[in-house]
Amino acid sequence: MECRPVQLNYEEFGQGVPLILIHGFPLDHSIWQPVVALLESHARVILPDLRGFGKSPLDEEVSSMRLMAEDIAALMDGLKIEKAILAGHSMGGYVCLNFARVYPRRLLGLALVATQAAEDTLERRQARLATAAEVKRKGVRVVAGSMPARLTNQPDLLEPLKKLILKTPSKGVQAALKGMAERPDATDWLTEITVPTAVIAGAQDTLIPPGRSKTLAQMLNHAWLVEIAGASHMPMMESPVEVADALLQLVKLAKSAG
Ligand code: MLT
Repeated sequence: MECRPVQLNYEEFGQGVPLILIHGFPLDHSIWQPVVALLESHARVILPDLRGFGKSPLDEEVSSMRLMAEDIAALMDGLKIEKAILAGHSMGGYVCLNFARVYPRRLLGLALVATQAAEDTLERRQARLATAAEVKRKGVRVVAGSMPARLTNQPDLLEPLKKLILKTPSKGVQAALKGMAERPDATDWLTEITVPTAVIAGAQDTLIPPGRSKTLAQMLNHAWLVEIAGASHMPMMESPVEVADALLQLVKLAKSAG
């Protein structure tokens, strides 16, 4: 498969063990801002925008999870980072699992936040493609209207999330929907992951119910589950202290291993 990485927009804070935080759909790197202040004196925190999101470019009609993983590898090359801890939120978690498959030796640790290994059901795939077609016709307001209430149960986050989604380029949203629809099941790859892995779940998450995270943690060899009682699908915004603690645990493990 031919992979042409694009140059990702990113922000960077702090020094030390590289910790790359990858946002979910249809968002951008700014969702991680609440945890940055808690992490930047302990690690080199890098926040990319995935292709077609935030200020990152797009050059394909389908943003496959593999292509997005290649973009992360190219970003690491550009920053002269051989190995990093990767944390992926939801769609960002699908990207992390693809990265782990292709570049296992470039990982120091993994955080899988409100995400899953399973592929889409046929019904879900069709719904994504229908949404992509609707976004093409009507723009991102199609997802900006309904999505915030599915992402969080915290009323003060609804408006900021809506504004963030409305800023997202329509083509990026369409390409990611198609990419998620065609992503393969990653379940069989899980046993190949040998780095410490924090599986972080919001107990109130209705998009990725916490039971799915529990199963994900059980299928991994070196994983532990962090279930956050008050959080739903956006734990890094809803419960930043708990999320930062889990990420710092990975940083500590990476330092003691290195
Ligand atoms: C996300 O938060 O990235 C998406 O909800 C993931 C998905 O739709 O599968």
